[in-house]
Amino acid sequence: MPDLIDVLSQDTALQIRPDHPAPPPAPFLEALLAGLSRPDKAIPCRFLYDAAGSKLFDAICELPEYYPTRTEMALLRAHAPQMARRIGANARFIELGAGSGGKAEFLLDALMAQGLPPAGYVCLDISPVPLAATAEAIEQRYPHLAVTAVCGNYLGDVDLPPSTARDVCFFPGSTIGNFERHEARAFLAQWRQRLSHFDERGAMMLIGVDLKKDVPTLERAYDDAQGVTAQFSLNVLTRANRELGADFNIDQFRHRARFVHDPGHIEISLVSQSDQTVTVDGQRFHFAAGEALHIENSHKYSLSEFAALAADAGFSVDTVWTDPRRWFSLNLLRAER
Ligand code: AVI
Repeated sequence: MPDLIDVLSQDTALQIRPDHPAPPPAPFLEALLAGLSRPDKAIPCRFLYDAAGSKLFDAICELPEYYPTRTEMALLRAHAPQMARRIGANARFIELGAGSGGKAEFLLDALMAQGLPPAGYVCLDISPVPLAATAEAIEQRYPHLAVTAVCGNYLGDVDLPPSTARDVCFFPGSTIGNFERHEARAFLAQWRQRLSHFDERGAMMLIGVDLKKDVPTLERAYDDAQGVTAQFSLNVLTRANRELGADFNIDQFRHRARFVHDPGHIEISLVSQSDQTVTVDGQRFHFAAGEALHIENSHKYSLSEFAALAADAGFSVDTVWTDPRRWFSLNLLRAER
């Protein structure tokens, strides 16, 4: 069954079907119990984004040390017309994840301004509320564009509405960096299969990828002077206490971000400041002083590493846009037949 919640057009209002309730807490509890039972304790990073975590992430994007968001925005501002020409007319524009802060609008504006209107716009997100807000904003801004909101997980099985247009998928923000490298490859390969390409240009994917750079710059981006990133990390423990009745002593964990050279990622953990025991759902978990609870990796690529990964997944690189310091890249990939 497709996770399609509604098809929007000029005449229809977005409605999220009531059969999409808020996700129950069980997946978080299961994941937390499983993660704390491992010898190398971990919580999957998707649990960082409750309402408070999402707000903190928005604040991270404004920090002087966190360069990815503003660098990607600058690339879009400077190069959207050229990106639009590479994308071409009549493509179905698929945005993975809602609420990219106006990034899709740069491209849609450029496509419209150059007489290359897309065949339609599809937004795909697991959370109905930001999905609805994004779809409504796009519908209002481009009244003649067919807008579709799909509530689903872009990492899982998604049934896109059928289409005869060539697909162009937009995945900004270097979210791909939060996947392990084998997961990133599998993700691209899955979307390579899923995208329709009805003309010789082939389906495309425009994807934001953060690049390798000097270690202090990278580590500062994930451990800012104001401590916002630390709050973002620790919030997952607050969330576990609130939602699951866990008893993490937040003061007894410290945020740590460090660059790991092989294969090249920022590793974020919460380090126990003492010998302590945490109880979750009646189960007790011991933390030694200095023991790490892993919460997120953020992988960094060289341009050639990313091109090789994309090639393994069935894409060739059409064009890469990068800033003068080569800190961030937007990669336009083309599906190979
Ligand atoms: C969402 N993602 C791309 C961010 C990143 O840069 O890996 C998540 C983040 N975690 C801490 N700061 C930012």
